[in-house]
Amino acid sequence: MHKKLPLLLTGSLAGVAILISSLSAADAPAAPASTSTPAPAPAAASASAAPAAPAASSAPAMAPSAPAVKADMSKVPAASDKKDLTFDKDIAPIFKASCVGCHGGARPRSGLDLSTKDTALKGGRGKSDIVAGHGDQSNVLLFAADAVTKSEMPPLSARTRATNPEPALTKDQLADLRAWIDQGAK
Ligand code: HEC
Repeated sequence: MHKKLPLLLTGSLAGVAILISSLSAADAPAAPASTSTPAPAPAAASASAAPAAPAASSAPAMAPSAPAVKADMSKVPAASDKKDLTFDKDIAPIFKASCVGCHGGARPRSGLDLSTKDTALKGGRGKSDIVAGHGDQSNVLLFAADAVTKSEMPPLSARTRATNPEPALTKDQLADLRAWIDQGAK
């Protein structure tokens, strides 16, 4: 009698367990229904997370060349004292010789097209590389003056290659570029 008790218990426990599992299985459809308010929330969150992901991943890509880069201003010549500098007259020839080979055409590097004033002012990768009135904050000048390590423009390798070398800007060219931006990039 008292040897049968554990068996009986075990048997009835198993029965309860089966009952519970079948109950909870039966309950399963009901459970999400009763928590229907939180349930759509994660679904909506993950749905919106998916489109958000590309935006999030493009943000770090922009960071390295954001205007707030650390620049060695001692490498950037002072603005020249030339007046009334314009893109077409003074800057386009400089960009054409040293930049447009990469920052022009159908697929400009980094999305930065320096072949026209409008596209140059628009910048690359959705941000400004020319801050009109502020040469000292303009990546176009800072990069061309080699003031930002690893962002030298033209890239060091392009300056000395055998075919179509793109020369670094001279001090005078940098001074004119700075003056043009400081004067409002007209
Ligand atoms: C041989 C090709 C080449 C030449 C020539 C060149 N660049 Fe670039 N430039 C690049 C590449 C490639 C990048 C992208 C670098 C990166 O993502 O790390 C870039 C990026 C830039 C950026 C950052 C753009 C952005 O918004 O992310 C600026 C500013 C820039 N270049 C300015 C210039 C200037 C000014 C000149 C001419 C004085 C020049 N580059 C010449 C290849 C070139």
